Amino acid sequence: MMDEWHKQIENISSTAQKKIAHANTQEELASIYTELLGKKGVISTLSRALRTYSEEERRIRGPLLQSLRVTIESWYQDRLTAINIRPINKDIVCDITAYIAPTTYGGLHPYTHIITHIEDIFVSLGWSIVEGPEVEDEFHNFDALNIPPHHPAREQHDTFWLPTPHTLLRTHTSSVQVRTMMNRQPPLAICAPGRTFRHEATDATHDFVFMQCEGLFIDRNVSLAHLVGTIQICMQQLFRNYTIQVRLQPDYFPFVEPGLQFSVSCPFCSSGCSVCKKSQWIEIGGAGLVHPHVLRTCSIDPDIWNGFAFGFGIERIAMLLYHINDVRLFKTGKKAFLQQFAHVPQGK
Ligand code: PHE
Repeated sequence: MMDEWHKQIENISSTAQKKIAHANTQEELASIYTELLGKKGVISTLSRALRTYSEEERRIRGPLLQSLRVTIESWYQDRLTAINIRPINKDIVCDITAYIAPTTYGGLHPYTHIITHIEDIFVSLGWSIVEGPEVEDEFHNFDALNIPPHHPAREQHDTFWLPTPHTLLRTHTSSVQVRTMMNRQPPLAICAPGRTFRHEATDATHDFVFMQCEGLFIDRNVSLAHLVGTIQICMQQLFRNYTIQVRLQPDYFPFVEPGLQFSVSCPFCSSGCSVCKKSQWIEIGGAGLVHPHVLRTCSIDPDIWNGFAFGFGIERIAMLLYHINDVRLFKTGKKAFLQQFAHVPQGK
């Protein structure tokens, strides 16, 4: 009788060991486990059979069964660990010919490149970078800048008026000049890049949402020479061409006197090219000395303080620098357009 019990135990033990060793997946192993140690498994059946024996016999047969249970349990645990750390295909360690899909990287938008560069230039001159709201009021966008209602200059600003009275989408970043002068004490040196809006038809050189960069400098005895020097440094750095000259021509903006338009000598040629249309000069933006009315409106005494302001379009700079021929491309979100700037180092 005793031999038979022994034999059974040994048989179960050797088949269990083989089966566990040959299990290749967790699922296979799990079903072998149930077969052996589950409620209806071989070990449980033997346990039930044990009850039919006398106490004395149970004392001898019981420990044999228990040690089999423990052994199977440990084989199971070892095999489970082995399955989990095994390479998926143990024959292939590393396939150097395997195809790996190329990684596509995102890049910074040309706006980000240019604005970062402009900010670096002005911060290096000791200026501050400031922001103003895109949803503006009539006072900051027009009245405080010497453009009262019915002033003809308002007609040049095709304005997106909002349903709330006296509220609009700012038509230029010059509104940030007003906000800065009203909230800070002179001397002031600020640069304000930002989004602006004009209600007009779009074409290759006009969009109804565009970017501008405003500059404002207020101190004592500021002259046009300071304005020219500042614009020259900014443009030379921006185009990475240190021979660039600045040209001023009279223009009219109600918030500056004199009002000027500034151009730079063509950064790409010395005798006329397609970019400067053979003129050797490229128009960049507007500028002038801040009008005393504007200073007074912002509670700055024009007998003590004066200064200059300038503004230019960021798209124009980007189009010149990167040879972009349609301003609308900036906002299409087209991958083919954006990927061209993915490898431009930041701020270049
Ligand atoms: N705000 C003007 C424009 O949008 C540009 C400008 C800024 C002119 C500052 C003079 C001084 O056209």
